[in-house]
Amino acid sequence: MQRSLTGIKPSNAPHLGNYLGAIRPALRLAQEYESFLFIADYHALTSLRDAAKMKAYTYDVAATWLACGLDPRTIHLYRQSDVTEVFELAWVLACLIATGQLERGVSYKDALAKGEAPNAGIFTYPVLMAADIILYDADVVPVGKDQLQHVEVARDVALRFNHVFGGEILHVPEAQITEAPLVPGTDGHKMSKSRDNGIPLFAPPKKLRQVVMKIVTGGDPLEARSEARGSTVWELYRLVASESEVRAMEESLRRPDFGWGHAKQVLYEALEAELGPRRAIYDALRADEAELDIVLQEGAERVRPIARETLRRVRGAVGMRA
Ligand code: TRP
Repeated sequence: MQRSLTGIKPSNAPHLGNYLGAIRPALRLAQEYESFLFIADYHALTSLRDAAKMKAYTYDVAATWLACGLDPRTIHLYRQSDVTEVFELAWVLACLIATGQLERGVSYKDALAKGEAPNAGIFTYPVLMAADIILYDADVVPVGKDQLQHVEVARDVALRFNHVFGGEILHVPEAQITEAPLVPGTDGHKMSKSRDNGIPLFAPPKKLRQVVMKIVTGGDPLEARSEARGSTVWELYRLVASESEVRAMEESLRRPDFGWGHAKQVLYEALEAELGPRRAIYDALRADEAELDIVLQEGAERVRPIARETLRRVRGAVGMRA
């Protein structure tokens, strides 16, 4: 079975956009691979300097994925910082990556363009990410387009390592661009933490309803025929309802007695049907951080032998005691 691997930066509590756009598609894809899913806490450290938040987001992410159906017996779920072997590989790879390639990194260039003074962690971000991937002989790395360049660095350095040290020592990974649906936020723009237009994933039902009711709509008078297609409510509904349910909403909105308020209520009910059962699991998991630690550590212990074996090959190849 081929191996797929992906990291999630714990930089926020997951919202509905993360669930519909990333988590749900990733869990579907995971059925076809031996999957490695880890919390990239050391990557988050490049910008997050708040221990309480680091911990909270890490547990938020772990509990969210578990509540959304990740079975830790079939998917390797672990914390990046629990497998410190990754740093040994990162150093070896750093010695084979030209600084010029890192200087062309989009995140690094963006930071410079914004007039920021990026730290060395941001500069070497792709090195650690390459180590994350190569350490586990990953075949495919499902990522969004924004991460493509990083996976290219991992490919390049694996190929270079094999060329320089002679042989098929490192497995060369391939990016797999995920076709994540675009999930609009309450203002109609892509749902994102920075825009503050998010729909919380596991807020209590009352709060969820409140946020759904705030979704921006055309504001047609009730009697007018409202066009469902293309509206934010419709875009979101499509992601949680069946085709016939979506068509029913389109029809209803053409009626004089059914307006956006009604449509939002229908959307809220569909979201609640999808999220309600998961929320209950999430709340129970999130309340027990010690248990989450156990799950994450068990995950780390299961993948560590793979990491050690890769390092054994690498150390031998470069002339260290293997
Ligand atoms: N850089 C990725 C992001 O910001 C997270 C990440 C870290 C990752 N290491 C990885 C993704 C390895 C895929 C493979 O989303």
